[in-house]
Amino acid sequence: MNYQPDKNFAAEMDAHDPLREYRSRFFIPRHTNGEECIYLCGNSLGLQPKTVRENVEQELKDWAELGVEGHFHARNPWMRYHEFLTESTARLVGANLPEVVVMNTLTVNLHLMMVSFYRPTPTRYRILIEANAFPSDQYAVKSQIQFQGYDPAEALIELPLRKGEVLHRTEDIEALIEREGESIALVLLGGINYYTGQVFDMERISRIAHAKGCTVGLDLAHAVGNIELQLHDWDVDFAVWCSYKYLNGGPGTIAGCFVHEKHADKPDMPRFAGWWGHNKETRFLMGPDFAPTSGAEGWQLSNPPILPLAALLASMEIFDAVGMKKLREKSRLLTGYLEFLVDQIGEDRVKIITPRDENQRGCQLSLVVKKNGREVYQKLTSEGVICDWREPDVIRVAPVPLYNSFMDVFRFVEILEKFI
Ligand SMILES: Cc1ncc(COP(=O)(O)O)c(C=O)c1O
Repeated sequence: MNYQPDKNFAAEMDAHDPLREYRSRFFIPRHTNGEECIYLCGNSLGLQPKTVRENVEQELKDWAELGVEGHFHARNPWMRYHEFLTESTARLVGANLPEVVVMNTLTVNLHLMMVSFYRPTPTRYRILIEANAFPSDQYAVKSQIQFQGYDPAEALIELPLRKGEVLHRTEDIEALIEREGESIALVLLGGINYYTGQVFDMERISRIAHAKGCTVGLDLAHAVGNIELQLHDWDVDFAVWCSYKYLNGGPGTIAGCFVHEKHADKPDMPRFAGWWGHNKETRFLMGPDFAPTSGAEGWQLSNPPILPLAALLASMEIFDAVGMKKLREKSRLLTGYLEFLVDQIGEDRVKIITPRDENQRGCQLSLVVKKNGREVYQKLTSEGVICDWREPDVIRVAPVPLYNSFMDVFRFVEILEKFI
C-alpha cells in the first residue's frame, strides 16, 4: 500500500473502507469537550455494541415475566443459552463445534485446563512459557506447579530473549524445545504477547512441541477476534481466552475455552468437575457420580451467567456478519498506516517494538517513547486519546478494524507528535 502522510489520504481510505458502516454499531466514548474520543484500546476493553442493551433487556424481561420458567420458555431459553454462541465461537478460532465452550473467565479456565493437561511425572514436569508472560498466567502456572508438589524455580522455564531484543525468535523456541523437550510437560504460550504484540507461530511450535511429547496450550486473550486462528488444524491441545478485549463482550464478561477433539471423550481424564459439565442427558437425574459430557462442554462447572452471555452474543452477531477474513484485511491496512505515520516521526523520538512483519502481529503496535513515556501517555489521555500504558515503558495502541477509522489513526499520530 502506498500510504501518504496527509489528512486527505485518511479521509479517502475511510470513504472506500468496505467495513466503515460497522463503526456506527458501537458506542464511541466521548471526551470532556463532547467530541468522540480517539479510542485505540480494544486490546484492553472493546467498545459496547449498540445491540447489547436490547439483548440484555430481553433476558431481564423474560426473567421478570417468567421467573424460573425462563430456563425453558424465555425467547432464548437459558438452559441452552451458551450453545447459541458455539457456532460463531468455533468459526472465530477455527474449531469444530464440540471443541469450544463459552464459560467462566480466562484465568479460571486456564486453571481448569492445567488440572487436566499439566500432569507432571518425575522426568517430565516442567512448563515452558514466554518471557514476560502476562502476570496472571505466571501466577496460575507457578501455583499449579506448586500444587503438584514441584518447585517453580526449577520447573518453570521462561523462554529467554537474546540480549538487547524484545521479540522471540521461532528458531530459538524450536532449539529450546529440541534441547529440553523431554522434561517439558506443557508448552503454554500467548498467541500474541500482550506487551510487544508479537504473534507466535502457533502451528509450528505446536508441531515441534508435540514431536517431543509435550502438551500445548495457548492463552489467546490478545489473539481472538484480532487474527485468524485454526486451532483444530494446528493441533493445539487446549486454549483459553477472554471476551472483553477484541470480542467486545463487556467488562469481565464470560470467557472461552477450546479443547481439541482428540481429548473429547476421555472420561477418566483428571478434571475438576461441576454439574454443568455432566452428561446433558442425565444431568437432572441428580446422580452422585460425575460422567462428563463429550467435548469442551465437559469442563463446565456451573450453570452460566445469562446476562454476560447475552451481551457477548450481540458482539458475536457482528463478527458473524463481517467474518475474520475481511476484518484482518482491514486490520493489516490500518495498522500498516499507523506504522507508516509513526515512522515519519523518527526512531529517535518514538520506536515501534512490535514486529514489522504484518504476519507476526495483530492490530496492536507497542510504542516506546524515548523521553518521559508515562507523561506523554497522560497528555494523550487529556487530549481524548484512549490507549494504554504498560510498565516499564510501553504505550500500546490498537486500531481495531471493526470500529476504528483511518482518521482515528491520523489524529492520534498528529497529537502524539505534539508531545514527544
Ligand atoms: C494475556 C492475558 N492473559 C490473562 C489475562 C487475565 O484475564 P482474566 O482477568 O480475565 O482472567 C489477561 C487480562 O488482560 C491477559 O491480557
